[in-house]
Amino acid sequence: MSDLYAVMGNPINHSKSPQIHSAFAEQTGQDLIYSAILVPLEKFKEEANSFFRNGLGLNVTVPFKEDAWQYADTYSSRALRAGAVNTLIKKEDGSIHADNTDGIGMVRDITINHDCAIAGKRVLVLGAGGAVRGILEPVLEEKPLEVVVANRTVSKAQALAIDFSDIGKIVGCGFDQIEGPFDLIINGTSASLSGELPPIPTSVIHAETTCYDMMYGAEPTVFNQWAESLNAAATLDGLGMLVEQAAESFNAWRGVRPESAPVISRIRDSLV
Ligand code: ATR
Repeated sequence: MSDLYAVMGNPINHSKSPQIHSAFAEQTGQDLIYSAILVPLEKFKEEANSFFRNGLGLNVTVPFKEDAWQYADTYSSRALRAGAVNTLIKKEDGSIHADNTDGIGMVRDITINHDCAIAGKRVLVLGAGGAVRGILEPVLEEKPLEVVVANRTVSKAQALAIDFSDIGKIVGCGFDQIEGPFDLIINGTSASLSGELPPIPTSVIHAETTCYDMMYGAEPTVFNQWAESLNAAATLDGLGMLVEQAAESFNAWRGVRPESAPVISRIRDSLV
């Protein structure tokens, strides 16, 4: 019988994870079935118990990230730092280990897929919500010169900076306190979802600036359109992060790292 994996969420029909993991399995010759499970609200624990009777690993998406956290027995350092998990791994003794692969997925997309080093760079991160908390440890581990976290609610940016200050140089501020330019700008706000642009000065961009929006879509995000209009050196979106976080989960489950590039192209072509 094939090994079983799945993603749980509500809603779940929009999830690209089954398509991504099936492509990884085909590419690496791994015998597994990856399905999408629509879990009724309040039923995460029952569904996870039932799944793990035979299943080996789960991805978890909204609104069950908190439930998944509580379900786990042990946590990776990056999951602890992120305060959230997206991957559950059943270990040989039957215990459940939790990981968060979002941040490392984004860092691998930037540094490997796009050959853009973070080491030694001035990095601006926009936003201070859960998405940003999830990426800060892997970003700081790349040893940037400095990370500036800017947010509409300044206190949240300052609190994040304090929480991560033991890993590297990081400061928190409001959008009107940003002093550019920066080599890498990561948009981790949810502003793109509503077609809005965080109010940041144009002076953040210079001729060598790479801009990365953690969101993606068939069309460039509002943030990336803005960056392009200012002649940023590169504008990248979060589709590569989506595929890389999946590759990291796949690697944790199977001990095999799939090639992400062909899968990124395939998903990009299917975006409407
Ligand atoms: P997520 O899990 O996507 O990070 P979140 O925790 O709700 O979601 O965080 C959303 C982030 O986007 C926050 O940093 C939020 O700013 P506030 O902390 O001030 O709320 C930011 N955000 C959302 N809409 C925004 C907008 N229109 N302009 C600027 N920042 C915005």
